[in-house]
Amino acid sequence: MIPVNSVLQVGQFPEIMQLEIDRRLSTIKLLDPQGKIPDGSFTAILTRSNTQIPKELLEKMPSVQMVATCGVGYDNLPLGYLKTHGIKASNTPGVLNDAVCELAIGMLFGLLRRIPEAQEYVKSSAWSKAPFTITTTLAGKCVGIAGMGRIGQDLAKRLEPFKVKLAYTGPTQKELPYEYFGDIKSLAKASDILILACPATPETEKMINAEVLEALGPQGYLINIARGSVVDEAALLVALQQKIIAGAALDVFENEPNPNVGFLNIDNVLLTPHIGSATSETRQLMTNLAIDNLEAFYNKKPLLTEVKN
Ligand code: DGY
Repeated sequence: MIPVNSVLQVGQFPEIMQLEIDRRLSTIKLLDPQGKIPDGSFTAILTRSNTQIPKELLEKMPSVQMVATCGVGYDNLPLGYLKTHGIKASNTPGVLNDAVCELAIGMLFGLLRRIPEAQEYVKSSAWSKAPFTITTTLAGKCVGIAGMGRIGQDLAKRLEPFKVKLAYTGPTQKELPYEYFGDIKSLAKASDILILACPATPETEKMINAEVLEALGPQGYLINIARGSVVDEAALLVALQQKIIAGAALDVFENEPNPNVGFLNIDNVLLTPHIGSATSETRQLMTNLAIDNLEAFYNKKPLLTEVKN
C-alpha cells in the first residue's frame, strides 16, 4: 500500500499516464519543478524522463527517500545527490524496447527511402511533372549500433532479417555475433548507418563530434534514438549542411521541445518529437512499472528496476 498523498508527482504526464497514476495512487502534483512545492510530507517522487529533477528541489524536501522515474533514461535525476543522501531511484527498462526499436526501424527506412518527402511529392502533385528521386537500399549495408544494452541488442535482432551486416561499440565487448569496435570513430568508419542507443552519461556526452561524422562519411547516415546530449549538434548541423554525411534521423535533441532551428531548414533530415516510447501500450507499461517500484519501496521490498547508482 502506498500511503495517501505521500508521493509528489513532479512534472506533467500525458493523459494516458495520468489516468493510470490517478487510478492507482493519490498523489499531490507539482507540475512545474521550479514552482512552489505544495504542502505535505512527501517520502517519494514520481516523475518522467522529460522532467529534470534538480538537486535544489530535493534539498527542500529532506523527507524524500525514493524517486521513481518513468523512462529507461535517468539522466534527468541528480545522481550524485541521490547517492550521497542514500535516496533510492528506479527507472523503467525493458517495457519500452518494442516501441523504441519500432520507431528506430521506421526512421531508418523513412530516412533511406525519403518517405516523408515522397509523400509530400505526391500531395503537392510534383509527381505529375517528374518522377521522385532515386534513393538507396538498406540490404547489404553495415549498421553500427553505439550502445549494446537492452535496446541496442533488441534492435540488432530486429535488423538481422534485413540482410545487413551488424557491428557495435560500447564499454565492453559482449558475446554477440556482431563485429565489435573498441571506439566510436572506428565503428563510424565501418558503418553505412550509425544508430545511437547508448545512455546519456558524462562518457557519451558529445561523443558524436566532427571527427566521428567525418569517419561516417558522405554516404553515411546517423540515427539518434538515445539523447540529444550524445551528439555535438553544432558539428552535426555543419556535417549535414556540407554533406559530410548523407543524412540524419533525430528523435532526440539537446534542447527539447525547441530544437536548434538549423535542423528545421535542411532537407537531409527526418525529425520526430522524442516519441520513442510514445505508444499507449508502452506508456501504460512504463507508468505501471514506476508505480510497482513505489509500491515495492513502501512495502520495504527490493525495487523491481532499481537504478544502481
Ligand atoms: C526514455 O525512456 O528514456 C525515453 O526517452 C522516454 O520516452
